[in-house]
Amino acid sequence: MKMEVFAMERAMSTWENLVDYDISESGVKPVCLRDLVEMGFDLEKMMDEPLGYSQANGTIQLREILAQQYPGAGIDNIEVTNGTSEANYVLAITLLGQGDEFALAIPNYMQLEGVAKAVGAKVNKFSLQHDKNWQIDWGEFESAVNPNTRLVYITRPSNPTGSILSEASVERILKRCEEMDAYLISDEVYIGSEIDVARTKTCWGMSDKVIVTSGLSKAYGIPGIRIGWLVGPEKLVAECWSQHDYITIGPNILSDALARVAVTAENREKLYARTCQAIKSNLPVYRQWIKEFDGLLEFNEPAAGAFCFIKYHSDVPSQKISEKIIAEQSTLIAPGSHFGMEGFLRLWLGGEPDFIKRGLGRVSRVLKTIMRKE
Ligand SMILES: Cc1ncc(COP(=O)(O)O)c(C=O)c1O
Repeated sequence: MKMEVFAMERAMSTWENLVDYDISESGVKPVCLRDLVEMGFDLEKMMDEPLGYSQANGTIQLREILAQQYPGAGIDNIEVTNGTSEANYVLAITLLGQGDEFALAIPNYMQLEGVAKAVGAKVNKFSLQHDKNWQIDWGEFESAVNPNTRLVYITRPSNPTGSILSEASVERILKRCEEMDAYLISDEVYIGSEIDVARTKTCWGMSDKVIVTSGLSKAYGIPGIRIGWLVGPEKLVAECWSQHDYITIGPNILSDALARVAVTAENREKLYARTCQAIKSNLPVYRQWIKEFDGLLEFNEPAAGAFCFIKYHSDVPSQKISEKIIAEQSTLIAPGSHFGMEGFLRLWLGGEPDFIKRGLGRVSRVLKTIMRKE
């Protein structure tokens, strides 16, 4: 299977450890092993655990704890994966084939565009409208989701907009999915990172056509142990497991054990609170920074997620801007083009405020020259 380069992930992997300021991230500063020990992880006991294979679809204990977050789900509705990205991946290769159609909201995390193309599926896009509070363009949606569509993908809360599609919108999406016999993946990896709004309710249970993916990388702040999961109808989950057998077999034993501590209701709330605190401490920094631009930048304050999607007023392509900022200021940001939308930049809200301020200072030096040229 020939894959096109996943532009966003490749840019980040190429530059994140080389630049002085990486403000392209989407999570918060990760927790340490010590934090998880303080939350109850028994490191001493783990020292004597044989480092064998773990249960390939996730230990029963981990799936039992996870199932509690998804009303009506049992352990056979859940498969534990290596990150949310593997959950998305196995679903796409299970559900899509040559000639099928795949629809996704734009802007978005673009992983599944690449996977869908690689398996020979046609990719249809529908817009989240910036000037309408990121609500769906329903005309585009109706054409994108048609009788050939097998899979639809949304991120809720959304990467990169930080907005949250309303339940009424999800109901409308699902009604169409039911009519067209398509599944909806609701990627919920940012649930728990809501800033001043109510916790987003999972889409799980809203229809037989719903599949949820999620993981520890964002709202939990633990990307490095690479734990994600998918929640879906039992038969589909079993088919995904078959794919998983061929790829990585299963998550590693240390990660599964750490995840069992992180996902308990009590620890989950602590981790979510830590994430929200980090995001909130950067909002004033951004508000102040945007003011410097006198209307040339628009701060779309996110409802969730450790990033904001900033509209800029210039015709210079976002990729060009980000390349210039790397070259001249050793600072990494994410161009809107990596999310399928021009005229925007995604910047990080999850680091230490002083670090973010210094990084933004570097971004300003380039943006001010670009904006002046207009
Ligand atoms: C919406 C979304 N899903 C999945 C991922 C990948 O997550 P993971 O690190 O858990 O594989 C990302 C990463 O940015 C993301 O934004």
